[in-house]
Amino acid sequence: MHPIVHQINSNDERYEKSLGIRNEVLRKPLNLDIFKEDLSDEENQIHFIIEKEDRIIGTVSLVCEYKKNTGKLRQMATIPEVRGEGYGKLLVHELEKYAKNNGMRTVILHARHYALGFYEKLGYEVCSEPFLEVGIEHQVMQKDLF
Ligand SMILES: CC(C)(COP(=O)(O)OP(=O)(O)OC[C@H]1O[C@@H](n2cnc3c(N)ncnc32)[C@H](O)[C@@H]1OP(=O)(O)O)[C@@H](O)C(=O)NCCC(=O)NCCS
Repeated sequence: MHPIVHQINSNDERYEKSLGIRNEVLRKPLNLDIFKEDLSDEENQIHFIIEKEDRIIGTVSLVCEYKKNTGKLRQMATIPEVRGEGYGKLLVHELEKYAKNNGMRTVILHARHYALGFYEKLGYEVCSEPFLEVGIEHQVMQKDLF
C-alpha cells in the first residue's frame, strides 16, 4: 500500500499518535517531553501526517498566516526507519500545496543546523544568522511559492 498524507486537526485521534512521534524524534533526544508543553496554539494549526500500512511514519505542521501571506512550517519529523525514502519531501510538498491553495505566498521555518541540507534540496534559502532554540543552533529559512 502506498503511503498517504492526511491533513488533520488537533481533535483527530491520530493527532495524539503524531505527538508521540514528535516526542521520540524531536524532544526525547534533547531530554525534553512534548507532553509537558503548552500545545494550545496547535488547535489553530494544520497537521500533516503520513501513514504507511496504518502506521504514522512522519509528521509536519503549518501555522497559517504566521505573518502576512506567510505560513510557518514546524515540527518536521520522520521516523528513523524510513528516512531517505522521500516521505519528508512528500510531507513538505503537501504542506506547500495547502499553503498556496489557502492564499499564502511564502513558507518560513526555523531549521536545525543538521537539517539545512534537507530544506535546501526543497528550495528553501537561509535568511538569518544562526540562533539557539531548544538548545540547538537554528537558522530561519524561507521559500516563495510560485
Ligand atoms: C530531516 C528529516 C525530516 C528528513 O526526512 P526524510 O524522510 O529522511 O527526507 P526525504 O527522504 O524526503 O529526503 C529528501 C531529500 O533530502 C535529503 N536529506 C534528508 N535529510 C537530510 C539532511 N539532514 N541533510 C541533507 N540532506 C538531507 C535526502 O537525501 C533526499 O535527497 P534526494 O531528494 O536527493 O534523494 C528527518 O531526517 C528527520 O526527521 N530528522 C530528525 C528531526 C529533524 O531534524 N527535523 C527537522 C527539524 S528542523
